[in-house]
Amino acid sequence: MHAPKEVTAVAFGGPQDIFHARSNSVPLPLIVRAEGIWMWDDRGRDYIDVSSGPVVSNIGHGNPRVADAMAEQARTLDFAYSRVARHRPNMELTARIAALAGPGYERVCLASGGSEAMEIALKFLRQYAVATGNATKRRLITLSPSYHGGTIATLAITGDEALDPFLDGFAVKSDRIPAPFQYRVPAGYTAKDYRMACADALEDKIREIGPEHVLAFVVEPIGGLATGAQPLAEDYANCIRKICTRYGVYLVYDEILCGAGRTGRFLASHAWPRARADVVVLAKGLAAGYAPLAAMLAPAAMVDHLAGLTGFNYSHTYNANPISCATALAVLDEYERSNLIRAAADRGAFLREQLETLADKHPTIGDIRGAGLLLGVELVADRATKTTFPANFPPTERIRLSGLKHGLIIYSRRTANGRNGDWFMVSPPLTITEAECEELVRRLDAALSDFEADAAPYLCEQAV
Ligand SMILES: Cc1ncc(COP(=O)(O)O)c(C=O)c1O
Repeated sequence: MHAPKEVTAVAFGGPQDIFHARSNSVPLPLIVRAEGIWMWDDRGRDYIDVSSGPVVSNIGHGNPRVADAMAEQARTLDFAYSRVARHRPNMELTARIAALAGPGYERVCLASGGSEAMEIALKFLRQYAVATGNATKRRLITLSPSYHGGTIATLAITGDEALDPFLDGFAVKSDRIPAPFQYRVPAGYTAKDYRMACADALEDKIREIGPEHVLAFVVEPIGGLATGAQPLAEDYANCIRKICTRYGVYLVYDEILCGAGRTGRFLASHAWPRARADVVVLAKGLAAGYAPLAAMLAPAAMVDHLAGLTGFNYSHTYNANPISCATALAVLDEYERSNLIRAAADRGAFLREQLETLADKHPTIGDIRGAGLLLGVELVADRATKTTFPANFPPTERIRLSGLKHGLIIYSRRTANGRNGDWFMVSPPLTITEAECEELVRRLDAALSDFEADAAPYLCEQAV
């Protein structure tokens, strides 16, 4: 593994990661080309994109039909500002997304990224509440841990106590309730009891604040890096839906990472027909990394009602950018052409089975979870007791390093200094073949063996 010297030594500029912490950091490869699930560095080494970046590249890299559609759109109509002009790619895309999302999500407001779309959703609900005589509703409830974005407002609703020194006195934080972890269940609970207790915590929190002050509960149907692909269970989802309805609190699903086909359904929450949200936010897989694009999905009744009152007041220069819209249309064509939503379910089941065989051999695999091709692997020092690694051995960095050595680009995360666990994502492009799944697992096997040799001093006896 090499750190690209020409990059780390620069006096001016530098790569994006120059802003990140350097302690413990794993050198990043200089990627120059990508195709399908594969990436190549400047020395010609190949890597599997194990996580599709941050769960973005749903249709794989280097798709020539999408590249052509983007070029064609750039030639035909590169930009038209959505407050002064309409354009067809916008109208075609929103109709298509609404059809895929189904009843209750007839209106689609486009944005450039997940955080922006999440802010649009919060602004929309707040403006709706103000316009309909519920101006006292301004508090938001979220899970801890959770992740809802990187802007100041979305960081303020993200459940991560490490952000407190940054947020305190600077932004208005959401009220937090515990995430219904199903692997790390507190003593004295079964997994079901615990998630039901977590659902009760929502009701308790709404009553404590006063329903007249609570605007919305925002939740990820399947967690991303904050929980390592922890899915909500259907009974929990049904319960929170009922609680939100009972108290007049809007339910917002953050499907920025898990939506757009990744779980084997267009929306991950389509798995729960009785727990539809009021508003859904989508992003990453929608334009699959080819262009920045995100969306808020809301019911026609609410959007049209607000439009008749004050109107929804929001604006970003790149809302419904024509090239982003044309890109997403071409991406959705690829979904259809290669039946990728079905592939997410089928290949996800295949890959999960393969990972489970790895767990027989590697004692540091504590849990494998997720849905479709959105899988997370939790690493532990002792499987029997679910003991995490000590603070001076961050396993997420070490597995990334071993991954690079064996040709894998791994996306991993440790939260609360390992207190909630350490995990990495296995969420390759939905175009992955069975043979490629096998190659991914073969490389991961080697990476885990190296990792376990490195981790040996920290493994509990049973695990060695
Ligand atoms: C669940 C979730 N919400 C929100 C975001 C923020 O999206 P973006 O990084 O596009 O602003 C992310 C990004 O990783 C995410 O995973």
